[in-house]
Amino acid sequence: MTKITPQPGIMEIALYVGGTAHVEGVSDVVKLSSNENPFGPSPAASEAARRATYELHRYPATDHAGLRAAIGEIHDIDPDQVICGVGSDEVLQFIAQSYAGPGDEVIYTEHGFSMYPILAHACGATPVKVAEKDRVVDVDAILAACNDKTRIVFIANPANPTGTMIDLDECARLANGLPEGALLVLDGAYAEFEQGYDGGASLVASRCNVIMTRTFSKIHGLGGLRIGWGYAPRDIIDVLNRVRQPFNLSTVQLAAAEAAVRDTGYTEKCRAENERLRGWLAEALARHGVKTDVSHTNFILARFADAAEADACDAYLKSQGLIVRKVGGYGLPNCLRITVGDEPACRRVAHAVGQFREGAE
Ligand SMILES: Cc1ncc(COP(=O)(O)O)c(C=O)c1O
Repeated sequence: MTKITPQPGIMEIALYVGGTAHVEGVSDVVKLSSNENPFGPSPAASEAARRATYELHRYPATDHAGLRAAIGEIHDIDPDQVICGVGSDEVLQFIAQSYAGPGDEVIYTEHGFSMYPILAHACGATPVKVAEKDRVVDVDAILAACNDKTRIVFIANPANPTGTMIDLDECARLANGLPEGALLVLDGAYAEFEQGYDGGASLVASRCNVIMTRTFSKIHGLGGLRIGWGYAPRDIIDVLNRVRQPFNLSTVQLAAAEAAVRDTGYTEKCRAENERLRGWLAEALARHGVKTDVSHTNFILARFADAAEADACDAYLKSQGLIVRKVGGYGLPNCLRITVGDEPACRRVAHAVGQFREGAE
């Protein structure tokens, strides 16, 4: 019998590996492997989700008007230029599916988010990996890699798993230098953690080739509900809406996200607390001889002497009930990505890394 084969590119996809949540035989485990908000969602979002369960027999809105209006109001952007998806992952998928295909190239960077090559393969395009400079996106290297096959450039700014970022002038230089017909996607999953940064919204407003994506999974603490959005020129939003399923978001998702984005006091509280604890944790790690880059996100990339030391530290942290993320798959085998937890979690991490390092000396 002939084997039925999938579309080109599909079998090139390495399955996405999520952060672990359990350690065999260890109780009191803290999960610091998926960059979740340790404080959870805004109480207003939880309440809105609960209330929405009274309407479970009703189909949700197809136009997401309420959520888009709230996003427009809070981010001071035109709601007609917003599209919502099942996590920002789905919005990224709409973009890849709509704008790249066989024969096209999709650029991402050396330590870029693992979904980018997956999405490129899924639509039959060729993912092209471009070097970074000391774990920072290198605009010149990206521009040098562009050609007439380039259709999309994906960068997360700030980036995962490095936590570094480039400034808006660099993003603008990248957008300005792209070949005609190529799109710059600024993935702003961590944008809210950088005070005063608009995620690249101002670039979207002034150009025809920039898209910004955002998520409710990180600062809004709604990773379990799966909601994200994108902001793009109207003609691009019109294209993306054609591949979006009409009922992609449930009533519960829409209600919780709208309440979350409107609770700006809670968002600011989470941002400020993350900034305080991130600084504290980075200093504590430095005191134990563990280097980090300045992080603009809700995690820290801890650098060790080599992969063996990173693996040994990971194993020790696990034995202490602390689950962090190994990032060898991102070309960073000597590093561990540690989500900034609440204060007790940060203290536990600092203490355990200290114990590990003392044992190592
Ligand atoms: C850089 C980046 N982009 C996008 C996402 C996807 O987020 P979600 O689909 O939960 O909105 C993540 C999640 O970890 C991320 O780190």
